[in-house]
Amino acid sequence: MSSIVCHPLIDTQNGIATDARIKKQRPPPLVVSRPRDLIQESCERLVLSDQQLRRIMTLMEKSMEQGLSASKKNVAVKMLPTYVDAVPNGTEKGDFLALDLGGTNFRVLHIKLEGKETKMTGKIFRVPESIMRGTGEALFDHIADCMAKFMEENNLKDAPKLPLGFTFSFPCEQDGLTKGKLVTWTKGFKASGVEGADVVTMLRDACHRRKDIDIDVVALLNDTVGTLMACAFQENTCQIGVIVGTGTNACYMERLDRIPKLAGYVDEHGVTPEEMIINTEWGAFGDDGTMDFLRTKWDDAVDRESINPGQHLYEKMISGMYMGECARVVLEDLAKQGLLFGGHSDAISIPHCFPTKFVSEIDSDLLEDDDRTFQKTYQILEDIGVEMITANDCANVAYVCSLISTRAAHLTAAGIAMLLNRINKKQVTVGVDGSVYRFHPTYPTLLDAKIAELIVGDIEVRYKLMLSEDGSGRGAALVAAVATRLKEEKLAALSSSSSSSN
Ligand code: BGC
Repeated sequence: MSSIVCHPLIDTQNGIATDARIKKQRPPPLVVSRPRDLIQESCERLVLSDQQLRRIMTLMEKSMEQGLSASKKNVAVKMLPTYVDAVPNGTEKGDFLALDLGGTNFRVLHIKLEGKETKMTGKIFRVPESIMRGTGEALFDHIADCMAKFMEENNLKDAPKLPLGFTFSFPCEQDGLTKGKLVTWTKGFKASGVEGADVVTMLRDACHRRKDIDIDVVALLNDTVGTLMACAFQENTCQIGVIVGTGTNACYMERLDRIPKLAGYVDEHGVTPEEMIINTEWGAFGDDGTMDFLRTKWDDAVDRESINPGQHLYEKMISGMYMGECARVVLEDLAKQGLLFGGHSDAISIPHCFPTKFVSEIDSDLLEDDDRTFQKTYQILEDIGVEMITANDCANVAYVCSLISTRAAHLTAAGIAMLLNRINKKQVTVGVDGSVYRFHPTYPTLLDAKIAELIVGDIEVRYKLMLSEDGSGRGAALVAAVATRLKEEKLAALSSSSSSSN
């Protein structure tokens, strides 16, 4: 058995040990790797300074102010009112249906809330790419079809209608809790005839078309809102909900007096709430050029080849749908410059051959592999067909992956720190969910550490990140439950005031 032993070209500055050794069961490649400093120099722009992150915070808050203003049109960060103006108080109970559409899977859930307990039965259905990119009608027919199957299997078809919460994780311009027009598709969806249309009406129409199911939609919500609500159910200081998964987004509880575009708003009972959850849709931050000062030629390449060029630029630097592709285009470029794989770039040039899960696996190689053998990294590169892999290549690929994921975590930290500063409360819990946050080995720690550096004030009391369990499902039931409870409370108050005045 032969082995390769060599020193990687990475230093400890970026959290990667210098004393790495690689043992592989194959002969040493004849290719000479290029020095570390050339790779570091090429990748310099991927390392963001605190000064740049603070600038991002200022610019993002400015973009958010524009989104909240009454006069500005065509803003990048939409700041969409959600009409959710109260968080759970722990007394919510009852049976609910939840639908969850936001990625390649669609879920139908039957949720029972009983005090702090939640019982859930659910089923996951795939949304084939042909449906994601077909007609809107076909997409909603598919949703209705999955729902009918689930209701049939769970004996819900002939039971009394359950209140339904619809988690639709795309930007929706709502003008009430049960109405919302899709602003634009994201995350690879492109079904025609939905942008600009009310998605709740499309869902109801699809149910009517098949005639065997009837629904009672009591809430339409974004997954960030579900995340905030699910977290607030456990921790009443929760004021921010963040998703870092296929896409990224955040919502937060905003004071009504800071939402000029809702000036004069009263709800259906004539009440002006003090606060409302705003769905920021921060994924589109930078779409107006605001972030150009730190975007790279690689970000441009990822954007250019995406299904929605020019849109959701912040998301494309952060989320799971793009992180792997971003790493891939950097690696392709380095290979073309002769700095990796002996200059062979064919294998790494195939679009999307390097999904985000590879970035996670390679980053865990760095974390767990004390001997720095980079076994997983080697395996991944070999699997995608890279031919000339030296030990140094493995170390350098790991270096690039760590730069991409660190940058993603730091950019998200800037967004969260800005919201924490804006909310400016003594103690705020941030509910977080999404595959990148859940499964990337270092992302949560990097995120937390950078928020602590970027916020003002005493970090001990200021914030806490909390993994929010299944916001899109449980959160949808909670929004539906809160809406139902508030409606009942308001009706009771109205009837008691009218009976006392009689
Ligand atoms: C969508 C958001 C969503 C986020 C996370 C983004 O692409 O625009 O509405 O919350 O993904 O799922």
